[in-house]
Amino acid sequence: MTLFDKIQVTAAFIKSKIAHTPKVGIILGSGLGGLTEHISNDCVLKYSEIPNFPVSTVKGHGGELIFGKMGNCDVVLMSGRFHYYEGYDMDTVTFPVRVMKALGADTLIVSNAAGGMNKHFRIGELMIITDHINQFPEHPLRGPNDERLGTRFPDMSKTYDPELIDAAKGIAANLGIDVTTGVYVGLQGPTFETPAEYRWLHVIGGDAVGMSTVPEVIVAKHGNMRVFGMSVITDIGISDVPVTITHEEVLEAANAAAPRMAAIVSGLVDYIAAQ
Ligand code: HPA
Repeated sequence: MTLFDKIQVTAAFIKSKIAHTPKVGIILGSGLGGLTEHISNDCVLKYSEIPNFPVSTVKGHGGELIFGKMGNCDVVLMSGRFHYYEGYDMDTVTFPVRVMKALGADTLIVSNAAGGMNKHFRIGELMIITDHINQFPEHPLRGPNDERLGTRFPDMSKTYDPELIDAAKGIAANLGIDVTTGVYVGLQGPTFETPAEYRWLHVIGGDAVGMSTVPEVIVAKHGNMRVFGMSVITDIGISDVPVTITHEEVLEAANAAAPRMAAIVSGLVDYIAAQ
């Protein structure tokens, strides 16, 4: 079966279960589950019951698609994502985004936990992603291009929607939540970076680094979706002495920031719905 056909099968299955077409797709990063409280659930589908969906393996990831309303906007929320480091190929990592688009979502909101390379950043800070640098060893669009899914050579000049970035800044300011902006570097992991790598990633223009987001965002752009992304800075890689980082610390910092991120995303969804 081609990727296109697989997407249709999965979307048809999901459509038979849901009452409303989602307008916005949301992907939650590690420890950022708080957003589920902002949704009045219509329907929850475990990945294991969705045809062609793999099952996620990482601690701290739920593994379900949640359909419902945030405010009065229909959304689909992916709780638990597929990472390249888990061994999935890029078609699998990005499959849920293809499905969201096939269901009718025209906007993707992504979140993640990330390491900070910018000396001005603090642990727990929220960073609106203004751009990214792709350091994954494999490109999600490599291979024959199916024009039904998107163009061969997608433009990436305004990948992170400038209007949504401005709206999110305004929403954060109104809520009294500090946000910063920056460039996210995506690489495969699963090791955290060495001190020299954090320095290098900063030199090439990165403010934060993580092991996700970039593949999903590229596929969303391929599918002509609007994209908004946000990182929680869970550790600071740049420092005079090497800093030890654990997955537990990453989750703890992400959990602490989750309510702030959820408030901004929820405001942004209202903004999108009102357009
Ligand atoms: N590096 C890569 N991925 C991460 C980090 C980091 O420092 N923190 C959270 N995810």
